[in-house]
Amino acid sequence: MYLGLDLGTSGLKGVVIDDKGNVLVQESVALAVDSPHAMWSEQDPESWWLAFIDVIQQLQQRLDLSKLKAIGLSGQMHGATLLDGQGNVLRPCILWNDGRSQAQCQALMAEFPDLIERSGNLAMPGFTAPKIRWVQENEPDIFAQLAYVLLPKDYLAYRLTGFMSSDCSDAAGTLWLNPQTRQWDDALLSATGLTQANMPRVYEGCDVVGTLSEAIAQELGLPLLPIVAGAGDNAAGAVGMGVTNPGQGFISLGTSGVYFTVSESHKANPQNTVHAFCHALPNRWHQMGVTLSAANSLAWFAKLVDKTVVELLDALEDSDTQRTKVLFLPYLSGERTPHNDPQANGQFIGLSNTTRVEDMTLAVLEGVAFSLLDCQNALSSAGSMVDELSLIGGGARSAMWRQIIANVLNKRLIYRDGGDVGPGLGAARLALLGEQQSLGQNIESLISQYCTMPEVLEVHEPDASLGSYYRDKYALYQSLYHVTKDLNE
Ligand code: XUL
Repeated sequence: MYLGLDLGTSGLKGVVIDDKGNVLVQESVALAVDSPHAMWSEQDPESWWLAFIDVIQQLQQRLDLSKLKAIGLSGQMHGATLLDGQGNVLRPCILWNDGRSQAQCQALMAEFPDLIERSGNLAMPGFTAPKIRWVQENEPDIFAQLAYVLLPKDYLAYRLTGFMSSDCSDAAGTLWLNPQTRQWDDALLSATGLTQANMPRVYEGCDVVGTLSEAIAQELGLPLLPIVAGAGDNAAGAVGMGVTNPGQGFISLGTSGVYFTVSESHKANPQNTVHAFCHALPNRWHQMGVTLSAANSLAWFAKLVDKTVVELLDALEDSDTQRTKVLFLPYLSGERTPHNDPQANGQFIGLSNTTRVEDMTLAVLEGVAFSLLDCQNALSSAGSMVDELSLIGGGARSAMWRQIIANVLNKRLIYRDGGDVGPGLGAARLALLGEQQSLGQNIESLISQYCTMPEVLEVHEPDASLGSYYRDKYALYQSLYHVTKDLNE
């Protein structure tokens, strides 16, 4: 048995698979996000640790965890967890959807013109490096004590093992890694006043990085397990869906929305806000377009109208509404692909006295689909096209939303077994790979054996009869950002 831990934004999930890779159980614990100021998004790392203990205790009620052979990790990317020389947390973690560091991004790109070339990416707010520059400028006392920076899942690994480590898929999202060499880049680190001494060692996602510390093992009643590096949540999601080779891709409908494709080499395309990172498996890279508020948009709207997401989706389905003149821009946390604009705002337009909640729900689902079409266009101009895509994440549980996305993207979408489990499945698969590799097995044969595409549950073909409705609406959607952008300044 292997355990994958996925430290998401809205919760920490534990997924246990058997030795053949089948999912046995999953349990999760909710996490809260703090926004003490507009555009800020933070979490207390201690809450991740408490959620981890809670998840283990829940899993223990369902399974005998003494049979576990390894733990693998996955987590929300880009978060800056700042530690002092003793490994104490200095301030709340600044998350991936935090937009405070726009000025620092611009300054970094102006002062270090080769930053884009070396990192293969634009400096975008939410990435780790600009946040450290923000801390340096705005919280100099904290910066003076800063000894180590860890990504969220790597902080959990540190608490589990006592050693600091990262993996190259997650590390690529800091802007301090050279994705081609898959190692830290001294020049990039120095742009934010750091050196390799401040950074953990970088591993491949399927490498063992340490052993569960005796104290934790004893406290939780677990064996002295190997801990496997794991991956940023999107690369882990890909491993879970068997998206490991060029030409394959998937969409994640989590708090964020991600359009992910695999490439055989590092293919930078910063001018289109494409994220070009390392994959979690050796000799593989990936590109992705990222929209910051996917399932979050629906959760936000449900809260606003005092309903649950399921109630909203059921009501929409019962009403059989296929078209609406209401249009929604999902920029509740700003946007990365394609605008790289943390100040972008969400919008509803086309409202009237007859507008129903169902129209607005449909508009939210369509608006997120349009933002994924923006990602598809960015990736295709970066030369990355796939014929079909799998779907993962909480939002992907809705067959109606999956169909809307297939229609808008004009692409075949495939919902597979384990799609709702998401990155936790990939983390568990990486645990299996890591443990087996440490016993001398060949990594490429392990990948072909265990990182397969799960069974197809439903195929969504695009509905041509809605083609012109979506084309017209997307044109309006695209223009609306440019019109409302001026309102922000
Ligand atoms: C990717 C990104 C998000 C987070 C969400 O660049 O910022 O997908 O990883 O957890």
